[in-house]
Amino acid sequence: MAIKYIPEPFRIKMVEPIKMLTLEEREQRIKEANYNLFSLRGEDVYIDLLTDSGTNAMSDKQWAGVMIGDEAYAGGRSYFKLVEAGQEIFGYEYIQPVHQGRAAEKVLFGLLMGPGKYSISNMHFDTTRAHVEIAGARAIDCVVEEAGDPTLRTPFKGNMDVEKLERLINEYGKENVALVVMTITNNSAGGQPVSIQNMRDVSAICKKYGIKLNIDAARYAENAYFIKQREEEFKDASIKDIIKEMFSYADMFTMSAKKDTIVNMGGLFGIKNDKELFQKAKGNTISFEGFTTYGGLSGRDLEALAIGLYEGLDEDYLRYRIGQMEYLAARLDDAGIAYQSPVGGHGVFVDAKAMFPHIPYNEFPGQALAIELYKEAGIRTCDIGSYMLGNDPDTGEQLHADFEFTRLAIPRRVYTQAHIDIMADALIAIKERASEVKGYRITWEPPVLRHFQASLEPLK
Ligand code: F0G
Repeated sequence: MAIKYIPEPFRIKMVEPIKMLTLEEREQRIKEANYNLFSLRGEDVYIDLLTDSGTNAMSDKQWAGVMIGDEAYAGGRSYFKLVEAGQEIFGYEYIQPVHQGRAAEKVLFGLLMGPGKYSISNMHFDTTRAHVEIAGARAIDCVVEEAGDPTLRTPFKGNMDVEKLERLINEYGKENVALVVMTITNNSAGGQPVSIQNMRDVSAICKKYGIKLNIDAARYAENAYFIKQREEEFKDASIKDIIKEMFSYADMFTMSAKKDTIVNMGGLFGIKNDKELFQKAKGNTISFEGFTTYGGLSGRDLEALAIGLYEGLDEDYLRYRIGQMEYLAARLDDAGIAYQSPVGGHGVFVDAKAMFPHIPYNEFPGQALAIELYKEAGIRTCDIGSYMLGNDPDTGEQLHADFEFTRLAIPRRVYTQAHIDIMADALIAIKERASEVKGYRITWEPPVLRHFQASLEPLK
């Protein structure tokens, strides 16, 4: 079923040229990159869907803000503007800028957990998991079961499995569960939303056992838009009211501002009212990031971030943004191409296992599809599957991921309907020759986070 593309609620004032290399050039470049898309030069890519993080287009107002950013080391005007925006939108007393999301995790997690402790999440993003582990604790994922079936169209596939959460708390002992993390939207499950009802249920369990609840808030505005669309109680609520309600159930948040806040660099954390924790976190911020009133950012970044916080909440923008995903997903439906459905907030996670049933997990179907997309149309994406997951740290065996996705992450306010059509056409062309596509073998890999650096070669 074809759906209508929702027109951009903006017009273009500045352009950045892009160019498609010839097929021969693309084949040559990806071979020279050892079949690793992170090793390609940006200018050899036509449509870059590697991530929606920091790849957004800022508005004229944000660029104007860049010119008036206050670069004072301490007490700059742009800092106060950002803190006030954060306090107003999230309803938290303490708001702290940092240079990106993982910096917020680094500053806070060491204060909350250590060896023998657990962090339980609907799903930890990779860096969130890494910072739990760096703090000496263990990260446990507890997403609802339906997230595991890409064909199942239920409204809130990002939710926490609440019964399992309570069971895990009792199993580990409530004193050993240092933190519960709600990732909204749930990136690793395909940008799937979390409902307010689920936030309420998780919050009640955390209160019952005296455990702190943290929101990983990278895509909080997209999550709020899904709540408005799909949760009856909120169909007439404003995005701003939904966000206030969502954050009211947690004690703190960590945020990569490179996503829904529509900037190229930045992060935040917020603490509702724990003054003592904030005092300690300020100490870590100064050690790791810089003085508290700039937090690893320039004054101009703080200014653009303060403006972006509001722009990200605009309902016309969010309708267009989610509309882009729905338009691309509908074209894939028409072509019988499977993806994590219903489509998520920041991209389309194509089911590479369904596209290439003949390629086993240890020959990396998600990576094979990513390479085909580059060869087909100069599109850069990434594997979210066994290739990314890596090896068991104890046995060195390749792990078998639950999903084999290729993620088409869509930058905000960057690509048009014609670009989205190129993405759909490329996937359709690959599907037609899917049985000829071969798997890959790793020829070199580093010990951690291998997918960024590994070398591969196609299997014969
Ligand atoms: N949490 C979530 C849910 C994320 O998606 C990311 C980053 C982070 C935390 C870390 O933030 O990059 O600013 O340090 N996700 C990007 C992605 C990199 O491509 O999905 P960061």
